[in-house]
Parts: sequence; structure tokens; C-alpha cells
Amino acid sequence: MNFLEERILKDGVVKSCNVLKVDSFLNHQVDIALMEEIGREFKRRFEDTPVTKVMTIEASGIGIAVFVAKELGVPLVFAKKSKSINIDGDVFVAEVESFTHRNKNQVVVSKSFLHAGEHVLIIDDFMANGCAMQGLISIVESAGATVEGCGIVIEKGFQIGGRVIRNMGYRVESLAIIDAMDADTGSITFRKQA
Ligand code: G4P
Repeated sequence: MNFLEERILKDGVVKSCNVLKVDSFLNHQVDIALMEEIGREFKRRFEDTPVTKVMTIEASGIGIAVFVAKELGVPLVFAKKSKSINIDGDVFVAEVESFTHRNKNQVVVSKSFLHAGEHVLIIDDFMANGCAMQGLISIVESAGATVEGCGIVIEKGFQIGGRVIRNMGYRVESLAIIDAMDADTGSITFRKQA
């Protein structure tokens, strides 16, 4: 079991509707030592790729991506969620549907901060159905940049996102993959990874 899986078992709380609460250490209160370790682990996994930029989406991805970008020594850009339909031409746009929150957001990245020829590592805290990741991938590709990989802290392996993104041909590295969880017993089953 790796450091993150241990922490999820210690402090994660399984809620009904297949939601794992990790707000005591990851996405509300933030354990900085854990973030540093996450940053080092993503660096270890992606240092064989020519990453020039880390990208994530607000809000919870930012705190994690900061530590990854610092380890890799590259800038971080985060996609902003926008309700506005009057998006001007200076931004790349993707529509992202959230099944968890049952809403749609347009996510935008300024054309000033993403260019053709860049090599992008996309980082996020959770992957469930993969909608956010698909939106970020489409933004990178519409800029003419290359997706070097997707780094996910917690993948919910019983939802389709990981399979969809891998089937699209992208490299996905998830620090913990949850194959099953049970709100009644609180049990969490991780996928064995090499
Ligand atoms: P998807 O992008 O993979 O399709 O996921 P989905 O629409 O289902 O998730 C929407 C939001 O809910 C995302 O945050 C995602 O990180 C979060 N989420 C999904 N499953 C869980 C879970 O089991 N536990 C927790 N704590 N969060 C989960 P978001 O809308 O981008 O919000 P935020 O980053 O602004 O917090």
C-alpha cells in the first residue's frame, strides 16, 4: 500500500452516492507534507516526459498542481470555470458536465498561457466520469499542444473516466485507484498497481 492509500484509509470517509470525503487532508484542509510527497511522486512518474507546463482546473486541482509544477520546475496554468456564454476569442473553451454536481460549466484557458508545441501534464484531484479531464484534453489539443499524460490523485475505478481516457490513448497515472467502496461498512478496496 502506498502513502496515499494509507492516508485515505486513515482519514477518508466513504459517503453515500459513491463519494469519498477527503476534505481533512486534500481538498478543504490541506496537508502540505502530503502535497509535497504527491508532487515528488508525480515527478518520479513523469520525469521521462518532456513536460513544459502543468495544467489543472479550479478549484481543488490547484493546490496539488502547484507542488507538481514546483517539482518539475515548470509553470502551472489552471482552467477557470465560467458560467458566461459570452466568451471572447482570446480563450480556449471546453464544456464540462459534472455528474456529481449535476451542472455544466464552460472551462476556459487564456490563449496567452497555452501555445502550440507545449508539452502538458494535466493534474487533478479526482477522476470519476472523466468529464473534466476530457475538457482539459480538448483545450490542450485545440491549442496545438501535446498531452504528455494525466496525473490523478484519486481515481474512482468503478466509474468510467479512467477507462475512457486510457482508451483514447492517453497515459493516466493515478496514485490511488479505488475499485469499490461501501458507505455502510466504510470499507475501501484499492486496485493493485505495480
Ligand atoms: P469527472 O470530472 O471525472 O466527470 O467527475 P464528476 O463530474 O463526477 O466530478 C465533479 C466534481 O466532483 C469534481 O470536482 C470532482 O473532483 C469531484 N468528485 C468526484 N468524485 C468525488 C468524490 O468521490 N469525492 C470528492 N471529494 N470529490 C469528488 P469539481 O466540481 O471540479 O470541484 P472543485 O475542484 O471545485 O472542488
